[in-house]
Amino acid sequence: MCGIVALVGSREASPILLESLKKLEYRGYDSSGLATVSIDANTQKGFISCRKAKGKLQNLLNLIQQDASPGHVGIGHTRWATHGKPEKKNAHPHLDTKGKVAVVQNGIIENHSLLRSQLEAKGIKFRSDTDTEVIPHLISEELYRLNKEGHEIGGLLLQLAVQKVLDVLKGSYALAVIWDEIPNVLIVAKSKAPLLIGFGEGEFLCASDTPAFSGFTKTILPLEDKELALITPLGVEIYDSFGNRKLRAPKLISGYESDADKGKFRHFMLKEIFEQPETAELWLTRYLPNGLPIESPVAFPFENSFYDSIEEIQILACGTSRHASMVGAYLLEQFAGIPAKVFFASEFRYAPPPLAPNVLTIGVTQSGETADTLAALAMEHERRSAYNNKDFASRQLGITNRGESSLSRQISHVIDIGAGLEVGVAATKTFLGQLLTFYGLAIMFASRRNSRSLKEIAELCDLLRCLPKQLVNLISEHNLLTEKLSHKFSSTKDVIFIGRGINYPIALEAALKLKEISYIHAQGYPAGELKHGPIALLDQTVPVISIANEGIVFEKVLSNAQEAKARDACLIGIAPKLPETDIFDHLLPIPRTSEWISPLLSVIPSQLLSYHIAARLGLDVDQPRNLAKSVTVE
Ligand code: AGP
Repeated sequence: MCGIVALVGSREASPILLESLKKLEYRGYDSSGLATVSIDANTQKGFISCRKAKGKLQNLLNLIQQDASPGHVGIGHTRWATHGKPEKKNAHPHLDTKGKVAVVQNGIIENHSLLRSQLEAKGIKFRSDTDTEVIPHLISEELYRLNKEGHEIGGLLLQLAVQKVLDVLKGSYALAVIWDEIPNVLIVAKSKAPLLIGFGEGEFLCASDTPAFSGFTKTILPLEDKELALITPLGVEIYDSFGNRKLRAPKLISGYESDADKGKFRHFMLKEIFEQPETAELWLTRYLPNGLPIESPVAFPFENSFYDSIEEIQILACGTSRHASMVGAYLLEQFAGIPAKVFFASEFRYAPPPLAPNVLTIGVTQSGETADTLAALAMEHERRSAYNNKDFASRQLGITNRGESSLSRQISHVIDIGAGLEVGVAATKTFLGQLLTFYGLAIMFASRRNSRSLKEIAELCDLLRCLPKQLVNLISEHNLLTEKLSHKFSSTKDVIFIGRGINYPIALEAALKLKEISYIHAQGYPAGELKHGPIALLDQTVPVISIANEGIVFEKVLSNAQEAKARDACLIGIAPKLPETDIFDHLLPIPRTSEWISPLLSVIPSQLLSYHIAARLGLDVDQPRNLAKSVTVE
């Protein structure tokens, strides 16, 4: 994870770096740091100033206010710890022994232990527990060696040294390097982690993601894997790993979503929950507009033939996106009649199923940056391409909330859910956008395969079109109800969610949301599984929250809930208000509706309940401990 920034500027670097880091804080917020290079007025020699702080970026801002970091060239980092605890010594930038080379990195250096022991054997003392620290020490060694061989001090020498080091690194990295001997030069490079170069007026800003460029430029050049860029005030030179110059033009991006404001809300998460009617409205206007023929009612950005000759769908995702995918797979199979299977992206990569013909692979990631998902998609693309058989050809589709993301650069067919900026680390409105997109896909497959009548398709479209209004009422009602109910959870240690069929993934999602922001242990189960083991956990201290909607498994879920009640569990229902649902000690009522669209409604009380429990506990709802919005390491 982590966010990196780097600047070659004509102005003071640190305010620009800090401003950009603020917009990348969603990538990690356990410590931060920056280093700038400037020239000493007396000696006329370059020197590096480095400032680091543990905790949120604000701590670094405070530090730099008291102790400025001078210079027009610099690098910065906001961290999500992988190797080494979130402490000041592990915050980036990391420097070589003499403090002449400074490096920030995002990614994981997998062979760092070996490299570290080789360096330690030569007498180098490490100051941190990070994998990154091997890099400045290795660069420093290479600089010394190459210089001794006769290479003159300059950009070319630094480029050669960095490239030599990149050649021995295994794993993923996006990194930026400065060297005090050449204060006007910056080197950046990447492999399997994002890095973009922004072209300003006489300045260049590099960053992990587009929001960092807001207010700086809209002209961006994404670096490709194994590329290195040498940047000076005069321009950007890009090289491949063999040192060959590459000519590529930057492109204009449409805009940024970075100016977040909580408005009247206490937290972004609550604001984003309340934005869901708008998310649905925008999605419907864009993808399910009135007036399209009912044979093809969804306006996804590709040809109708895209849906043809697909015999099976596999979906790769992580976390909340995987839960949305599970609802999606249910819809694709049960509504559209096409076999669909969901995989943990992190597992798929190393244990994919045997190749089957005419498979569509869908990657779902709201950030478009999740390393596990991107790597699994890339692996699947490679193994299918290598097979060289047209039935087994790679066909991939991405579903994301970030039109300008690594996913969009990796895959040609992408659906942007258009939920707008989501600041809260816990995904809410993007989950809704992902669900809607699966409804769109299920409708398109059903109509192309004639697996549903036009009447059934039209009915589902109509139900979806009613959603924004339903959500407005549901959210305001449940904001009050769940706030009240949250008082009951002040000493709760464990919660069990149960659901079945299309709502089983909602039980999983509800449990994940509660865990993430309240740190209360929560588990989601298919309701029928409760009696096969988890029921042993139940007593009066473990609330069981049951998601029950009218439909094929309604009575079954209610019976499973009764089994929990018989073990003294406090029973909470997310269910319609009916005589049958009197069994619940507390009811969070949802409107009576078709089972098909029930997940779009039943998820709302679960989001709000998690939010109010965490907010009441006084926790950092928007930036929960140990998490990051975008998980860019495997
Ligand atoms: C969601 O609340 C979580 N923060 C997390 O599970 C997230 O869904 C997961 O990391 C996948 O992220 P992505 O959608 O950006 O790929």
